[in-house]
Amino acid sequence: MKFFIDTANLSQIKEAHDLGVLDGVTTNPSLMAKEGIKGQENIMKHYVDICNIVKGDVSAEVISVDFDGIVREGEALAKLHPQIVVKVPMIKEGVKAIRYFTEKGIRTNCTLVFSAGQAILAAKAGAAYVSPFIGRLDDINEDGIALIHQIVKIYHNYNFRTQVLAASIRHTLHITKCAEAGADVVTCPHQVILDLLKHPLTDSGLAKFLADAKK
Ligand code: G3P
Repeated sequence: MKFFIDTANLSQIKEAHDLGVLDGVTTNPSLMAKEGIKGQENIMKHYVDICNIVKGDVSAEVISVDFDGIVREGEALAKLHPQIVVKVPMIKEGVKAIRYFTEKGIRTNCTLVFSAGQAILAAKAGAAYVSPFIGRLDDINEDGIALIHQIVKIYHNYNFRTQVLAASIRHTLHITKCAEAGADVVTCPHQVILDLLKHPLTDSGLAKFLADAKK
């Protein structure tokens, strides 16, 4: 399973990269705004800065919702760096644009996916990744992890090559449950990656080893 970090914060990306477990980055317009990155030139430069920190795929999201606009933005993003994956929303114009990008050899991440039916459409259009938002489903009392199981099974049944990228991860249990379900990728906030390190028995065990080593 690949580990992506879900942030546009360069220090967090660098810290996760330095841990040696990072395979890529996902961003979205909200995460870019959170970092205060404004203006087309700064936004484009920021994506290149991210690509220069990590070796893997970096998802950069379009903000147009019409086919021509999505294509224009996506082509500009894809030209920035070979690691860029164009993130496109699961809407009718988005699916058409994913098919267009697929035929042009531009890789896409279909975002804002909340059902297996949407995931089938994304795969049929040729998306490189599909991003089911599991935390947001849990928020409305639906079962985000069950959706990951369902999509993984469907893609397996038909040998769809689209990778299941579990997004909207809120805690470490989401990560381990996604791993059990067979998700190809989890994209996590920095803190959730760090939380994976934690166990009280590790802390107490280490304290005892260090104390005993002094004896
Ligand atoms: O990358 C998008 C996704 O991970 C959003 O997460 O926490 O805003 O639901 P969240």
